[in-house]
Amino acid sequence: MKRIAIFASGSGTNAEAIARHFADNDNIQVTCVLSNRANAGVHQRMQPFGIPTITLDKETWNTATPIVDMLQEQNIDLIVLAGFMRKIETPLTTAFARRIINIHPSLLPLHGGAGMYGHHVHEAVLAAGDTESGITIHYVDEMIDGGEIIFQARCEVLPDDTPDTLADRIHILEHRHFPQVIEQLLTD
Ligand code: GAR
Repeated sequence: MKRIAIFASGSGTNAEAIARHFADNDNIQVTCVLSNRANAGVHQRMQPFGIPTITLDKETWNTATPIVDMLQEQNIDLIVLAGFMRKIETPLTTAFARRIINIHPSLLPLHGGAGMYGHHVHEAVLAAGDTESGITIHYVDEMIDGGEIIFQARCEVLPDDTPDTLADRIHILEHRHFPQVIEQLLTD
């Protein structure tokens, strides 16, 4: 059995798509969700799947070693960042090298880096006048949004798009591809 830990800070639609995808899978399981926000929507979204969620405080995320210990005790094979809005500290990137992946709502290296998350990314895409955007799934290392790219998918940006309409199109791509990329990584 391969075991996934999801880190999420927000609504959790990607976490839900992943949980649904693996709900009946005998070989791959979402074991837990770790969050930095007690009121994040992801907690409720995990309830129907019986996946435990935990909120950890700032100090624990900053130290990170208690998180490494917890995930190693649970024999986690892959950490999946699904809308996780914090930097991943060195103890985690070291202990789980090439075993942490992130989804980013643009075609990296475009519109990535510190401060580039959620609607900020879509605003930047529109401000740049880009005619296409998309999603990037990549390994997580020390550099924010800088790890090796695993997968990208594209969509068009329409002339009358707002950050919200673009975010909706991006979410569709994310929900379609993220679970499958995870399955492929854990199956290869
Ligand atoms: C997703 O679009 C994800 O790509 C983005 O946050 C959203 C979370 O949505 N992540 C980042 O911007 C990371 N830099 P969700 O909570 O509904 O899954």
